[in-house]
Amino acid sequence: MSESVARPDSPVSAYNEWDPLEEVIVGIVDGAHFPPYDIEVSAPLSAEQRAVFRENAGRPFPADGIAAARDELDQLVDILGGEGVKVRRPEPRDHSQSYSAPGWSSTGLYDAMPRDMLLVVGQDIIEAPMSWRSRHHAASAFRPLLKEYFHGGARWSSPPKPELTDELYVEGWTDQPEGEPFRSVITEFEPTFDAADFVRCGRDIFGQRSHTTNAMGIEWLRRHLGDTYRVHELTLADDHPMHIDASLMPLAPGKLLIHPDRVPEVPAIFKDWEVRTAPLPVIPDGHPLYMTSKWINMNVLMIDEHKMVVEAQDEPMRRFAEDWGMEAILCPFRNFNSLGGSFHCATVDVRRRGELQSYF
Ligand code: ARG
Repeated sequence: MSESVARPDSPVSAYNEWDPLEEVIVGIVDGAHFPPYDIEVSAPLSAEQRAVFRENAGRPFPADGIAAARDELDQLVDILGGEGVKVRRPEPRDHSQSYSAPGWSSTGLYDAMPRDMLLVVGQDIIEAPMSWRSRHHAASAFRPLLKEYFHGGARWSSPPKPELTDELYVEGWTDQPEGEPFRSVITEFEPTFDAADFVRCGRDIFGQRSHTTNAMGIEWLRRHLGDTYRVHELTLADDHPMHIDASLMPLAPGKLLIHPDRVPEVPAIFKDWEVRTAPLPVIPDGHPLYMTSKWINMNVLMIDEHKMVVEAQDEPMRRFAEDWGMEAILCPFRNFNSLGGSFHCATVDVRRRGELQSYF
């Protein structure tokens, strides 16, 4: 469906996580702020992270951490450029500015994680209908690029704009008791999803329900993409799910990287794939991780199916990549990790050289 409506020379074209990367958007940390402490923000966080978010709501993230993360992003940009990849950046914005809609108001978060916001499927670049009020205008930073891609012949889609009224959030939500099935903070009031709750393997796209993605959001994507694609909903064992890319990461045709606990049963469709468990993270305990677990170590970016960008101090992941026949390209990223993501989150692959295929 999406192939027929974009121009053949579309600057947007990517079907999976591993074809040779030609153009990528890398996020920016400028202007990053802790968002207002709303229930949907608290839900995916650990108890310690909740305390930090509550205390710092509306304040900028610590300046020294931001400066160090900015420097790491610049190094990533240089590395990707050196690999022949065209690198694009969003426009800096002031996230302390408040905005409102009927029934609510908010300030913003950051433009550090384009992966959360933009989903590229074939020649279609889709703006995610995000459920956090603090991310309601997340597309704005990318609009100059999106317009350029549109002029260039890409398809540019946006699901129904979410209203984010109180009906979307479960009143009085609390964590599910230990051992009980996941209880989302969002309802089925309207379709919402974050782009990072999906990973792409050609005709098969894998997604999960989370604290940001509801069943209607997954169904919207399924109908939008039509018969060309199969959108599979996976149920993983993540107590605080938000974004699938630190739980299940397809790296190459036939190679699946998984979190050691969150994928208790590998989905049957991967039966002919080689599945390996991510090595233990080496991020030290004292290092601030405001909104992710240490398993952000497995949030890697593939430059092609033999080349993986790996955190510079992550010796186990470097060895893991090499053992699996891939070259590890090292980039320091630990300060960026503090903001909740790693190389996969920090990027969106706009164009990878390759065709639509089925890998199953
Ligand atoms: N929720 C994951 C974890 O805590 C982190 C996922 C980050 N991904 C992203 N695209 N921002 O392990």
